[in-house]
Amino acid sequence: MELERHDYDVVVVGAGGAGLRAAIEAHESGARTAVVCKSLLGKAHTVMAEGGIAAAMANLYPEDNWRVHFRDTMRGGKMLNHWRMAQLHAQEAPDRVRELEDWGALFDRTPDGLISQRDFGGHRYARLAHVGDRTGLELIRTLQQRTVALGIDVYMECTVTRLLTDDDGVTGAFGYWRESGRFLAWRAPSVVLATGGIGKSYKVTSNSWEYTGDGHSLALQAGATLVNMEFVQFHPTGMVWPPSVRGILVTESVRGDGGILKNSAGNRFMFDYIPDFFRKETAETQDEADRWYEDKKNNRRPPELLPRDEVARAINSEVKAGRGTPHGGVFLDIASRRSAEYIRKRLPSMYHQFRELAEVDITAEAMEVGPTCHYVMGGVEVDPDSEAARVPGLFAAGEVAGGMHGSNRLGGNSLSDLLVFGRRAGAAAAAHALGHRDRAELPEDALADAARAALAPFDREGGENPYTVQHDLQQTMHDLVGIIRNATEMEQALERIAVLRERVANLSVEGHRQYNPGWHLALDLPHMLVVGECIARAALERQESRGGHTRDDFPATDAGWARTNLVCSLAADGSVALTRQPLPVMPAELAEIFEESP
Ligand code: FUM
Repeated sequence: MELERHDYDVVVVGAGGAGLRAAIEAHESGARTAVVCKSLLGKAHTVMAEGGIAAAMANLYPEDNWRVHFRDTMRGGKMLNHWRMAQLHAQEAPDRVRELEDWGALFDRTPDGLISQRDFGGHRYARLAHVGDRTGLELIRTLQQRTVALGIDVYMECTVTRLLTDDDGVTGAFGYWRESGRFLAWRAPSVVLATGGIGKSYKVTSNSWEYTGDGHSLALQAGATLVNMEFVQFHPTGMVWPPSVRGILVTESVRGDGGILKNSAGNRFMFDYIPDFFRKETAETQDEADRWYEDKKNNRRPPELLPRDEVARAINSEVKAGRGTPHGGVFLDIASRRSAEYIRKRLPSMYHQFRELAEVDITAEAMEVGPTCHYVMGGVEVDPDSEAARVPGLFAAGEVAGGMHGSNRLGGNSLSDLLVFGRRAGAAAAAHALGHRDRAELPEDALADAARAALAPFDREGGENPYTVQHDLQQTMHDLVGIIRNATEMEQALERIAVLRERVANLSVEGHRQYNPGWHLALDLPHMLVVGECIARAALERQESRGGHTRDDFPATDAGWARTNLVCSLAADGSVALTRQPLPVMPAELAEIFEESP
């Protein structure tokens, strides 16, 4: 077998914000580090976090601090977040933003010259440091430039198909160049997974082709566990028209900067969906909301800035009740609230996106929007301080890791999550590697097996077409494990996934190994299926509604389930096994923070 071989201390899989931040930290800790990414460097879902990085820098509101950010994050996640991750995140995010600025990121400024911060749902104070509505792009640009300047090796357009392990833990990874189809293997005692999410398992998504749950699935296969997989975030506002752009993100900044949601009757329906929990902090009438815009100091929130799960469910209900737009969404209107100049300055990408893709001028007309699968809260179960998974030498950071966001992530907390935990994972991975100077040889039989498995779709004739199977999986997840769920539909989903598994085992592809997207998809599909199964199994098991998991057969939030995590592992026969695990107990000094405000 022709195989390119490389030797490193740390291999980072994924080059979004978490992967690049991890690689920089590992390199600066003295580890020989490589980054491997499926796409070209710089193309990552990180750029879809458009509105900003959440960090309690107190630039606009001096009363903001890490304790309030911690409390907002825990409440947004309906208290299922790992308290330690939420604590570290809130405490360290401001330093990570300042560091990014030191490395060249250019943030928008306040009139006093401080980093400007904008409002987002579920955050008590305006705390999203931003660059127009292109914050994720600026973050990636900055980290990418630093990665290249430090001389870190980058393997672009390269897919990892397998993690290699022995009895002591990780020994490396196996993959292929997407362009040539040639195989390569990296020997390394530490691997950091930073592969992002799973959005491509759903029909309508803000995610692009790369997000097929590779890291979730690779971790499971290596013996690690996944937590909170039932919690999938549907961002309330994706484009709905024309069909070719359905699902593309419409940043929450539109609402953060004053945009309002209306149904087909012209009613601002979010006032009808304010849950009691939030009522005290939320404007109760249109007049109050207007006053809020005039005087933000009173801290009342417009109902469009409820957490994402609440807004997505409200939009879903309006559409189901027949009050949707012609193309099955609702209207998002900023034109009647803000001047054209303000909109073009604060939301330049949205202005161009709608003009170019939908022929809509958002300074004059309302946008049509609807929920789109954006983020998975569930992911690899990690130690909160080091991001170490259960397998020695394996680490995970960013969207592929679970625990930080509980049952629902607040907008803006993803970029800060990537930086805080990417840095921690990189440092811990380097420390692990540098403590393991005796390197295991890569097992030749495992390499041969990985190569055989990768080439298998070429050996089958007349099998299933990968695109048809992907379409059927996406339709299944969309129809049966979507925003509103029930037992009957999820059981049906699991039956369909079992059939899809057999079909995936019979995939065949034509042509050769040089840039063959059908083959690439055939290798991604097993990941998508196992992730789909984890989501459906955990969602069926959790008999309550909480955050990103809403069941119409169990509509209430249940106090018992507030203490329980669901953890997925892979059984010997390859099936998904589910166990219940108690939530880690929050120490008293943090629990007190929740007494400080109703
Ligand atoms: O709406 C947005 O700009 C997305 C931000 C995020 O997911 O954090």
